[in-house]
Amino acid sequence: MMVSLSTLLLLLLLYVAAATSTFSATNTEYIKLPLVLHKTPHHHHHHHRHHQSTLKSPVISGASSGSGEYLISLELGSPPQPLLLVADTGSDLIWVKCSACHNCSLHPPGSAFLARHSSSFSPHHCFQPTCRHLAPHPHHNPCNHTNLHSPCRYEYSYADGSLTAGFFSKETITFNTTSGHQLQLQGLHFGCGFTSITGSETFNVAHGVMGLGRGPISFSSQLGRRFGNKFSYCLMDYTLSPPPTSFLLIGSQQNDFVPTNKNMSFTPLLINPLSPTFYYIGIKSVYVDGVKLRIDPSVWSIDEIGNGGTVVDSGTTLTQLVEPAYREILRAFKRRLKLPSPDESIQGFDLCVNTSGVLRPSYPRLSFELVGKKTVFSPPQMNYFIETSEQVECLAIQPVELGSEFSVIGNLMQQGYLLEFDRDRSRLGFSRHGCALP
Ligand SMILES: *[C@@H]1O[C@H](CO)[C@@H](O)[C@H](O)[C@H]1NC(C)=O
Ligand SMILES: *[C@@H]1O[C@H](CO)[C@@H](O)[C@H](O)[C@H]1NC(C)=O
Ligand SMILES: *[C@@H]1O[C@H](CO)[C@@H](O)[C@H](O)[C@H]1NC(C)=O
Ligand SMILES: *[C@@H]1O[C@H](CO)[C@@H](O)[C@H](O)[C@H]1NC(C)=O
Ligand SMILES: *[C@@H]1O[C@H](CO)[C@@H](O)[C@H](O)[C@H]1NC(C)=O
Repeated sequence: MMVSLSTLLLLLLLYVAAATSTFSATNTEYIKLPLVLHKTPHHHHHHHRHHQSTLKSPVISGASSGSGEYLISLELGSPPQPLLLVADTGSDLIWVKCSACHNCSLHPPGSAFLARHSSSFSPHHCFQPTCRHLAPHPHHNPCNHTNLHSPCRYEYSYADGSLTAGFFSKETITFNTTSGHQLQLQGLHFGCGFTSITGSETFNVAHGVMGLGRGPISFSSQLGRRFGNKFSYCLMDYTLSPPPTSFLLIGSQQNDFVPTNKNMSFTPLLINPLSPTFYYIGIKSVYVDGVKLRIDPSVWSIDEIGNGGTVVDSGTTLTQLVEPAYREILRAFKRRLKLPSPDESIQGFDLCVNTSGVLRPSYPRLSFELVGKKTVFSPPQMNYFIETSEQVECLAIQPVELGSEFSVIGNLMQQGYLLEFDRDRSRLGFSRHGCALP
């Protein structure tokens, strides 16, 4: 589904603020990783992402279905092998495409992580407690009774049908520091994926997924233990030229990263025990041009079997809202938009306009009132109106079924914001003023 027509790669720098190459965690340490945008035109993209009911589904994420994904570049193994992973707050597992080749003459360089070329690669064994993290049931013993020393096999699936399977393993990860040193962190748990099924062309470029979810095996959980249990990112507007830097930061960068912390708005991160991976936020109401829409607040709630709610997902491109809310927003936009419709309907979008002859089309202002003290998220219009083809712009929100699915704030809606996931305080901070370049 990904079209490489206008693939745009922003290869950016990697920083680690630690001045030394030791990993003693202090408040001032953080890791700053480059984010690389893999972009494709939205109109070629048919979004058929179906959420499963959240119960027991190991992960639900758009990591392999979006038309715009943010990739993280890092190095794994000894000697280090460079890899690109999709940054995904909607899943937990870190996995990379792996190859067990010895003499990898048939493997194009950079196509996979070559496990046998790394002296630090070590698969977990099925009896190790770490292996239980990936067992379908926490008390299930993943060991095969006839072979207690078998490797820790995993299979991890995504709501859109993508899948990765292989050995849950340990490796050394390497970061570049701002002072030019290389830092190595040993024992990163990750899935060495010998089998992967991915529907997206993102994986022509990306080697895997970096799960940033709430679960214990995610990148943010594993590194949070050393750098502070908080991470932030800033997804810059990729229509700008030259494209600005996007980054992911693990830990706190108190001095230069969030200078106007005071101006950050906060909303609690809600917990759904039936879907422990996700970062849920609470929507109270929606406004279009300052007018509150008549949406029953109950459509936003998480029900007793764990369905519903709203998730912040960097691995999904378009925002998805439950049907009753979506209908109201669509209605309000249709009522206010004065621009003509395009000649043909645009697949996948319910509201599009022909912007021919309009220099800077202006759209109704969408805002979300979130749980918190006067916490309002008012994204700029480019976060929810996108150009699908020349002179055609569409409302970039899609409906999902109330009762069986949940709402997702996708990465397009997050553009231009600094988002800070404070896991200890269980809150999400966001600011339009925090994306200043270092
Ligand atoms: C780290 O720096 C080295 C030397 O400049 C470079 O070769 C390598 O690609 C860098 N790694 C990453 C992940 O940026
Ligand atoms: C291994 O690679 C070398 C070149 O690096 C090649 O000459 C040789 O045929 C390869 N062996 C096998 C078994 O593929
Ligand atoms: C258990 O391991 C044996 C030997 O490795 C293998 O033949 C068998 O298929 C495995 N069983 C399961 C259920 O994985
Ligand atoms: C803080 O936020 C408000 C409203 O979002 C904005 O008007 C103001 O300019 C911001 N202040 C600073 C210092 O960025
Ligand atoms: C947009 O409107 C212009 C002028 O009316 C027309 O020529 C053009 O074909 C329209 N484009 C689309 C995609 O509807």
